[in-house]
Amino acid sequence: MTLKGKHIVLGITGSIAAYKAAYLLRAFVKKGAEVQVVMTPAGKEFITPVTLSALSGKPVVSEFFTANDGTWHSHVDLGLWADVMVIAPATAASIGKMAHGVADNMLITTYLSSKAPVFIAPAMDLDMFAHPSTQNNLNLLRSYGNHIIEPASGELASHLEGKGRMEEPDRIVAIIEEFFASQQALAKKKVMITAGPTYEKLDPVRFIGNYSSGKMGFAIAEACAQAGADVTLIAGPVSLKTTHPAIKRIDVESADEMYDAAVSAFAESDAAIMCAAVADYKPAVRCDVKMKRSADDMTLQLVPNRDIAAALGAIKREDQCLVGFALETNDEEANAQSKLAKKNLDFVVLNSLQNPGAGFRHDTNRVTIIERNGNVTDYPCKLKSEVATDIVSLLAQYVNQK
Ligand code: C5P
Repeated sequence: MTLKGKHIVLGITGSIAAYKAAYLLRAFVKKGAEVQVVMTPAGKEFITPVTLSALSGKPVVSEFFTANDGTWHSHVDLGLWADVMVIAPATAASIGKMAHGVADNMLITTYLSSKAPVFIAPAMDLDMFAHPSTQNNLNLLRSYGNHIIEPASGELASHLEGKGRMEEPDRIVAIIEEFFASQQALAKKKVMITAGPTYEKLDPVRFIGNYSSGKMGFAIAEACAQAGADVTLIAGPVSLKTTHPAIKRIDVESADEMYDAAVSAFAESDAAIMCAAVADYKPAVRCDVKMKRSADDMTLQLVPNRDIAAALGAIKREDQCLVGFALETNDEEANAQSKLAKKNLDFVVLNSLQNPGAGFRHDTNRVTIIERNGNVTDYPCKLKSEVATDIVSLLAQYVNQK
């Protein structure tokens, strides 16, 4: 009964795969969930609401009003009731409407009103699925934070072979179970994260900085908070916002300020993820007034900043976990291995600037995780939010073993 008491809104749209929704519904109910079915008008052409209301024990919702007595079904109440919304099968048409907010039926209005996480299981013919329009819409939905359950490849209702078959109900149930388990993965844990660049002041108007946007660190902070952790996010100068109430944000500017904030937060933390692109050097002297231009060459004297990750590695307790990042342009794995040892990290997340879609300012990243025990795992190019989820699930294994 791993889904005991969970409220699931199951959205069913007009695809031949709608027959599988009955198995899916039955499996959710067997796991202890309460399921409310919401169907599009086309969905009802493929499977009868009578079957679904018998399996769920609740009348199926499909129209804004019940025709015979004028009862109004509130999509807002349904959206708030849900712990999760699962749309399976999702047709190309419904995916397009969700991506663009075309709220012309009960299912799409419920989707738009829902604050719960949304899982979408597409089902369609291979060419429809591969069409750039469908793929762009799916990418839009991913960018809103929705989870896409990739369709499988195989024989389709059209008798063609290819990618487009709705994922099997048992697998969808397992994905939803894993999702709820992941929300508890860091429960009662404290995680500190550094993110963004540092600015090293030259004078009141100039600094030495770098291109880090902070997106990866902020995505990790969000993923840790979603996994139930109390998060302290120490952020260099970035233009990003944090929304999760479990994230306490400390804004800093220089490496020295970040060092002080990190050392003080680390003592109370179960884990620290060093995601910031800390400047290696700072100016030896900082001018109190704006430096003036002259006709002569100018030489800046720089002195090294302290290595925050290495400092935390040196004071790390047995019960703490320390994770670093390595952004490399050459000899990637060897450099990352040496950082792992030098900074006393538990694992290091390597991203190479040679990989398209990886590194600064992108919304995507492609990483390799190298663990102290010798495990090396390559991940495909993914959204930074998805990379963050991968990092957090590995972190949870470490933290829960300590
Ligand atoms: O040695 P390098 O700067 O490449 O190491 C990168 C890792 O060390 C990252 O996790 C980064 O956040 C951390 N670091 C740090 N303080 C520094 C330099 C790097 O915490 N001064």
